[in-house]
Amino acid sequence: MKNYNVGIIGATGMVGQRFATLLDGHPWFTVKVLAASPRSKGKTYEEAAGSRWAMTTPMPESMKNMVLMDATADIEEIASQVDFVFCAVDMKKDEIKALEEAYAKAECPVVSNNSAHRFTDDVPMVVPEINPDHIEIIKAQRERLGTKRGFIAVKSNCSIQSYVPALHPLRKFGIKNVLACTYQAISGAGKTFETWPEMVDNLIPFIGGEEEKSEQEPLKVWGTIEGNKIVKAQSPAITTQCLRVPVSNGHTAAVFVTFENKPSKEEILKCWKEFAGVPQELELPHAPKQFLNYFEEDNRPQAKLDRDMEGGMAVSIGRLREDTQYDYKFVCLSHNTLRGAAGGAVLLAELLAAKGYFD
Ligand SMILES: NC(=O)c1ccc[n+]([C@@H]2O[C@H](COP(=O)([O-])OP(=O)(O)OC[C@H]3O[C@@H](n4cnc5c(N)ncnc54)[C@H](OP(=O)(O)O)[C@@H]3O)[C@@H](O)[C@H]2O)c1
Repeated sequence: MKNYNVGIIGATGMVGQRFATLLDGHPWFTVKVLAASPRSKGKTYEEAAGSRWAMTTPMPESMKNMVLMDATADIEEIASQVDFVFCAVDMKKDEIKALEEAYAKAECPVVSNNSAHRFTDDVPMVVPEINPDHIEIIKAQRERLGTKRGFIAVKSNCSIQSYVPALHPLRKFGIKNVLACTYQAISGAGKTFETWPEMVDNLIPFIGGEEEKSEQEPLKVWGTIEGNKIVKAQSPAITTQCLRVPVSNGHTAAVFVTFENKPSKEEILKCWKEFAGVPQELELPHAPKQFLNYFEEDNRPQAKLDRDMEGGMAVSIGRLREDTQYDYKFVCLSHNTLRGAAGGAVLLAELLAAKGYFD
């Protein structure tokens, strides 16, 4: 595989730090540019992010002395130095939309963690094991933007990456209704217990915009390309409640599901065990070998014990049993800043690289 030069836009933030950690020593991607707000411009990465470094591994040596650029003012210069950028910034939605389009129009592809473009009709929102074919819409997007190389591809919200992977191989049984309650880690808000001490011994029953994302995004991921847009799936009906819990990393979901054709418990377990997607077939560097992992123990999966499975890229599931109101209920867990954020975006970039979209 060819080597690509990449930039991290929002490098100083929680997701940006994850990108830096994951891309350090990556076999295909080399970090050449770090960028953030004008506040960070001209500082070294260590000066700008050292005091708020939230990763368990140290800041990569190769990046400590890199000088940060301004993500907005330096677009042309950044685009001239890299083959594509990863983007995870805390800005207003319309500002992020404009920023990402400006990179795409500067012929610099954007692999984004931000939600701003998730519902743009011709922007693929990809979970690489589930809807890798959606990247084919990039041709139509390039036509709209008037670009040769530039495009935007996004990953979905972290909340849905715990339960949508578990539901996906069960779609052949006709999923009718889904109820999912998510228990979401504080790193999903870009926080640690040091920066958000109010979360110790606490639970907050509201995460702005999260329930809408959790109900709508699966339908785009399960949608189909029709002409120059991705059309959302009509079913299943999904309802959610999203709670913030005092966990550093790892989003858990308690899921209830009803089918058109109710499978047996053994059939469900077989579907999970045997499921593999394009990333596994292509053996992409960040693809987990076993994507869906079922625990027989009643007290698993646990955030602290199981979130790091396969480098935080695998999804773990447990407690599958029949329900009195729905057909089945179960619990699932995924690492929100790895599979759910930077890791999911790196896997998407690996898929795009393998399919030639950065050439
Ligand atoms: N945390 C998660 O688990 C997670 C999961 C999925 C998606 N996301 C999304 O990823 C994005 C970043 O989240 P985060 O948790 O990493 O946020 P964060 O820790 O608050 O970091 C925000 C980043 O945005 C930069 N920034 C702020 N204003 C800017 C501006 N005007 N121009 C350029 N850069 C600017 C900051 O740079 P300075 O340091 O210079 O201020 C910093 O690098 C958000 O859209 C979030 O919704 C987060």
